Amino acid sequence: MRILQVSAELFPLLKTGGLADVAGALPAALGAQGCAVRALLPGFPAVVAGLRAPEKVGSFTTPWGEGVDIVLGELPGLGTAGGALQAYVLMAPGLYDRPGNPYHDTQHNPYADNHRRFAALAWGAAHLAYGLDAGWSPQLVHCHDWHAGLSPACMAYWDSPQRVPTLFTIHNLAYQGCFAAACFADLGLPASAFGVNGLEFYGQVSFMKAALVYADHISTVSPSYAREIQTPEQGFGLDGLLRSRAAQLSGILNGVDASVWDPGYDALLAHPFDGRKLTGKALNKAALQAETGLDLLPDAPLFSLVGRLTEQKGLPLVLGGVEEVVGGGGQLLVLGSGDTALEHALAAQAQAHPGRMAVRLDYDEALAHRIFGGSDVTLVPSRFEPCGLTQLYGLKYGSLPLVRRVGGLADTVVDTDLESLDDRSATGFVFDNFDTTDYRRAVRRAFALYRRRADWSRVRQNGMRIASGWEQSALRYRDLYASLLS
Ligand code: ADP
Ligand code: GLC
Repeated sequence: MRILQVSAELFPLLKTGGLADVAGALPAALGAQGCAVRALLPGFPAVVAGLRAPEKVGSFTTPWGEGVDIVLGELPGLGTAGGALQAYVLMAPGLYDRPGNPYHDTQHNPYADNHRRFAALAWGAAHLAYGLDAGWSPQLVHCHDWHAGLSPACMAYWDSPQRVPTLFTIHNLAYQGCFAAACFADLGLPASAFGVNGLEFYGQVSFMKAALVYADHISTVSPSYAREIQTPEQGFGLDGLLRSRAAQLSGILNGVDASVWDPGYDALLAHPFDGRKLTGKALNKAALQAETGLDLLPDAPLFSLVGRLTEQKGLPLVLGGVEEVVGGGGQLLVLGSGDTALEHALAAQAQAHPGRMAVRLDYDEALAHRIFGGSDVTLVPSRFEPCGLTQLYGLKYGSLPLVRRVGGLADTVVDTDLESLDDRSATGFVFDNFDTTDYRRAVRRAFALYRRRADWSRVRQNGMRIASGWEQSALRYRDLYASLLS
């Protein structure tokens, strides 16, 4: 099966969140299942810099008259069996040649021409689907998140006797790519597309809605999230549409890319370790405490959080539970960046608890590895979570996840109780309500287990043993592709 994967990010070239991890891991995982995957990416500076042996395969003109070249090159190490991934990149410097974050400027203002930047991506996908590269064309186009969301619409209106099917994966319904109605004129779609049965959403243009209307199938990154987004609480206004498409909506869990995340071989850890021998874990913890200015307390449970500092990720709960962690004799370490108010509040708490709490307001891939490798608990108390990857990294690195029972967190972490301890299914701590009371109780349960060292080790072993690689999920995607092609 020939698949074109369309996304705005791809690890290790460009990453703002889990989308990049997934886009970077899927091609090789699908390759192992017999799919021939090529990627399509906007020509952001980091993408262009990482592309080897680029060659122009064609060009097209956007509906607003801008010329775009499509080059085909190789991304070393990201393809099947560690080979290169073939990647198409859109060369349009006027749209993409801007340093830093791919979506907004240094002041965090979304770029005013974002609708054009990602409409060009969609038209690039449509051109490739319908023969722009004489040497290769996909049988199916797999688009990720709103940035690629217009592709199914552009493809639906393409004038061709043959239809190339589309799969759209929602990584986060909260980010929808909505633009003023006037932007519609730039998109090159027939006027009829701007209606309630098309991509119009409360008077605006919505790239997310375009995908949900026009894609042949919609997937989310966990089965629970696929159900949750069909409810008003989590549907962000699109739950009715999603319910109407329930027969073409399913969830496939993300996996962990073992070539990047494996504590036994992780070059970013000073002391690699595995489930059989955990001395390295203790050494990593001491190094992490020293590095971040925490007191060198080997027996203080070290709670950590790596992620975007937003309400979604449950930072208000973490702030409300600082005393519970620190007062109970634990330590708290946060790595992330995001909302200014949350950043300030976290920094103030860290200042109030020197040696006990540390905050790094930064994006630091290597430190993230050291945190999973050195901490005891990985906090993911999210309000909603499509899948979540940090709890999976926590499991694999022996840092017990403490999560809310929602979305992919509910699907990947098993709460510790007598029964799950006994049958060896326990892997972490799960609480139900998005409130500080429930969160604090989960923290107290973590302390209680930590004092029972044999049980703690047992739960940690359970988590580290879980096979959370990409194989099973890649198989599911392959089967889904096959069903869409039949
Ligand atoms: P989301 O995609 O919603 O941000 P995920 O848990 O799926 O959440 O993925 C987040 C990814 O980004 C993980 O790989 C995580 O380690 C990484 N990450 C998030 N914030 C940071 C940071 N400040 N520094 C380094 N890595 C980070
Ligand atoms: C999104 C979600 C996260 C998910 C990631 C990768 O950013 O917020 O839950 O793990 O995409 O699919």
